[in-house]
Amino acid sequence: MRLSVVILAAGQGKRMNSSLPKVLQPLAGRPLLEHVVGAAQRLAPANIYVVYGHGGAQVQAALAHRPVEWILQAEQLGTGHATMQAMCVIPDDHTVLVLYGDVPLIRTASLSRLVAIADAGALAILSVDLPDATGYGRILRGGDGQVTAIVEQRDAKPEQLPIRELNSGLMAAPASRLREWLLGLSSDNSQREYYLTDVVAAAVRAGDRVEAVRADDAAEVAGVNDKIQLAQAETAYRRERAEELMLAGATLADPARVDIRGEVEVGRDVFIDINVLLTGHVKLGPGVTLGAHCIVNNSQIGAGTEVLPNSIIDNAIVGENCRIGPFARVRPHSVLHDQVHVGNFVEIKNSEMGAGSKANHLSYVGDAVVGRGVNVGAGSITCNYDGQNKWPTLIGDDAFIGSGSMLVAPVRIGAGATIGAGSTITQNAADGSLTLTRAVQSTVAGWSRPRRLDDAERTAAIDAALKTPKR
Ligand code: UD1
Ligand code: CA
Repeated sequence: MRLSVVILAAGQGKRMNSSLPKVLQPLAGRPLLEHVVGAAQRLAPANIYVVYGHGGAQVQAALAHRPVEWILQAEQLGTGHATMQAMCVIPDDHTVLVLYGDVPLIRTASLSRLVAIADAGALAILSVDLPDATGYGRILRGGDGQVTAIVEQRDAKPEQLPIRELNSGLMAAPASRLREWLLGLSSDNSQREYYLTDVVAAAVRAGDRVEAVRADDAAEVAGVNDKIQLAQAETAYRRERAEELMLAGATLADPARVDIRGEVEVGRDVFIDINVLLTGHVKLGPGVTLGAHCIVNNSQIGAGTEVLPNSIIDNAIVGENCRIGPFARVRPHSVLHDQVHVGNFVEIKNSEMGAGSKANHLSYVGDAVVGRGVNVGAGSITCNYDGQNKWPTLIGDDAFIGSGSMLVAPVRIGAGATIGAGSTITQNAADGSLTLTRAVQSTVAGWSRPRRLDDAERTAAIDAALKTPKR
C-alpha cells in the first residue's frame, strides 16, 4: 500500500506564550516540526503533507530543505478539519498516517505498527497509559473490550475522566475509509471544532475495525504544548541519545550532563566527561576522550584523540592520537592530521596541520597550511589579515617557529627552516636556514630605577610630558 503522511501543524500554540509558532519551537536545536518530518521520512512514504496555518511563511521557510508538500488550513476548525484539507489530494488507495506537529519524539517502530494495521484495512490508533491524563482524549472500550470512541477531556463525563488509556493523537487508516468517516464529523462539542478523534466512533458505526496500539514509551507520544513540556521533551531526547551512545560503547561520566543536539556516532571506549555539548553531525573514533565542558559541533575526531577540558571543536576534522586543549579552539575548515598537539589558548582557523605538528601555547594559526613535524612556539601568530583581505601562510615540514614570532601573510616558511624567537617575518624564509629579525640588545650601565613621587611631583611630571596648560 502506498503511504501518505499528514502532519497537523496549523495551530497557534497559545500556551507557549511566544511569538514563534509552536511547531517551530526548538527541541535539540531543531524545530519540533522537523523532528516529526524526520520520523515520517524514515518510513519512506510517497508523500508528506504538512497542514499549516499560523505563522505560515515562517513555518514554510524553516522547513524549506525538507521534502514536504504544504496544505493551507486557513481557519483552525479542529484536527478533523485539518486532516480533511489534506484528504483532497490523497488518492483512495493510499494508507494515511496522521501525525501531530507537536508530538516530536515519536519513534519509527510505533509508526510502522500503525501503518501495518491500516494496510490491512483497519483504523489504527496509538494509545498510551499515563498517570497524569490532563489534556488527553480518553479511549472508550465496550463490554467486549473493543474500542468504541475517543472522548476529549473537556467533553468527558465524570465517570470517563479516570480512564488512563489515552489517545496520543496519532492514527493510520485506509484513505477511502478515513475520507468517509471525516465527511460525517460534526462540531457538536465543547470547542465547536471538528475533532479527528471522532473518526473512531464513525468507524465503529460503519462497521470498520478499530485497533489501539500501545506506545512503547510514554515520552515518545508526549505532546508539547507549553515551555514546561518543551523542557521535558528536551530531557527525554537527551536521555535517549545518551543511552544510544552508552549502548554503542561510550562511557558517560553522567548521562544527565551530556547534551546531544544532533547525530552522534561513537566508537567503543569513548569517554565523555560532564557538561559536554555535541551538536550537528559528530563522529568520535574509538577511545576518544572528551574532557569536561567541551563543545564539539559538526566534527570528526579520530581514534585515541584526547580533548582536554574547555575546548571547542567546530566544523573540523581531527586525526588520531591528537591532544587538544585544555582551552583550545579549533574553528571551521580546520584539518588536524594524526598526533597533532594543540595546547591551551591556541586558536586554529581554516588551517591544516600535518602529522605530529604542535602549537602548544597561546598561538593563532589562521588560513595556514602547516607541514608535518612543525613546532609553533608559544605566542606565535599568523598575521593573516591586513584590515581588508585574508592571506595564507605556508609552513614547510619540520620547521621550527621560535616563540613570539609574527608571520605576516602571505608568507612561506621553508621546510626545516628555523625562525628566531620574537621575529616579525614579512618575507619568505628559506628551507633549512635560520631566519630572524631582531633589534640589537643594548645595556645602559649605571641606570637607576625610578624614585616614588608625591602627588604634586607626579602631576607636574604628567603636565610636562603631555604639555598640558598649568592647572
Ligand atoms: C489532541 C487530541 C487528543 C489527544 C492529544 C494528544 C483532538 C481533538 N484531540 O488534543 O485526543 O489526546 O492531541 O496530544 O484531536 N491543529 C491543526 N489545526 C487545527 C487544530 C489543531 O493543524 O485546527 C494541529 C496543532 O497544530 C497540533 C495538533 O493539531 O499540532 C494537535 O492540536 P492540539 O490543539 O494541540 O490538540 P490537543 O488539545 O493537544
Ligand atoms: Ca497538543
